[in-house]
Amino acid sequence: MNDKVVQITNHRPPVSCTPLRPLLCTLVLVAGCNGDPTGGPAAGGDARDRDVVPVPVPVGASEDAPGPPPSEPARLSRFGEAPPLRGLAAVHGLRIGFAAPHDMFELEDSALYTSIATEEYDILTPENSMKMTYLRHVPGRYEWERSDRLVAFAEAHDMAVHGHPLIWSGQVTQWIKDLGAAELAALMREHIATVVSRYRGRVDVWDVVNEALVRDGSLRDSLWYLSMGESYIAEAFHIAREHDPDVTLIYNDYDVGWLNPKSDALLERLAGELDRGTPIDGVGFQLHLETDDHPGVDSLRENFRRFAELGLDIYITEMDIAVDWRADPGTEALKQAELYGDVLRICVEQPRCRALQTWGLGDRHAWRSSLKAMPFDEEYRAKPAFRAMQRVLQETPPTPRAPR
Ligand code: XIL
Repeated sequence: MNDKVVQITNHRPPVSCTPLRPLLCTLVLVAGCNGDPTGGPAAGGDARDRDVVPVPVPVGASEDAPGPPPSEPARLSRFGEAPPLRGLAAVHGLRIGFAAPHDMFELEDSALYTSIATEEYDILTPENSMKMTYLRHVPGRYEWERSDRLVAFAEAHDMAVHGHPLIWSGQVTQWIKDLGAAELAALMREHIATVVSRYRGRVDVWDVVNEALVRDGSLRDSLWYLSMGESYIAEAFHIAREHDPDVTLIYNDYDVGWLNPKSDALLERLAGELDRGTPIDGVGFQLHLETDDHPGVDSLRENFRRFAELGLDIYITEMDIAVDWRADPGTEALKQAELYGDVLRICVEQPRCRALQTWGLGDRHAWRSSLKAMPFDEEYRAKPAFRAMQRVLQETPPTPRAPR
């Protein structure tokens, strides 16, 4: 039997990793943690005193054979059972993240919220702070305070920033909606140039255009489309590229995760844009889901494959999974966990998938909080969904990422 035994550092029994878990063997510790986020020695602070476990060890490496150099032991997450998601995701070359609320630093539980976020995640999207309603509240000046603070917070905690969104028909201030076509076109150019330049080298990914299509795949009658025609999409990408040559530029939308008329239309549209030289690097799939309302994960996998085949990177940008409040809560929590796990596994296995982010952190403050769509509950206890994400990252063999 080719079992490999890896000794853990805190005198718990060694765990044996069999070839049934090929390539990756991550130790699972039941560390007396019950998922209470405030429990343990360092709630709200750093994790120095928590239990430590080794980082994943490739099975097959032996003492005689040359293997990777020994690495620092990884610490258990405050939720127990495994190291934090960000370290587990890094083994796969992925980032894992969350949408940071506009008022994250003023929440009554801000210290707890931010400490969980920084421990578990390594990318954040400002949920609202970079939208026009906030940045361009009044004519003549930008209000940078909130977005600057979120970007600085991310940098301080070694997290990437996913900027959201440059051009969208939602959350546009009334004075902008009142502009004439020529003024609006000028504002679009000036807005993208200003925002992208300000965060050049600090924002890693931009949602350049958000939700430009409606359900049947045709263009939304947004103020941008009505003023400029469909060329506004290509133009937005070109301006963004001009002001940051290195940032990743993506198109982001909902209801395009599965094979359906809208994702067909998007695929065709993006293929056309790429042919014309529009600098689009990837697609953001929002994935606001419900436990029962999706056509199956095979369709998601196949859909990702066809976008990746165009050379586009895949970002899961706003994932949440609403439960059915009329159904049994225990069963719903398990269905939710299964779907979170399945989607993450598909991302891990797709070489062009770069990141998965949930649209919020716990059910207390998320956009769809009443639908209990997050991996943590109102009290920041880990739900089965969070456990499923831990397990998938631990147990799925890494797939080499495609070069960018
Ligand atoms: C939502 C935010 O979560 C809310 O706080 C806000 O009131 C409305 O917008 N698709 C998007 C996101 O691209 O910007 C939206 O965010 C959710 C749907």
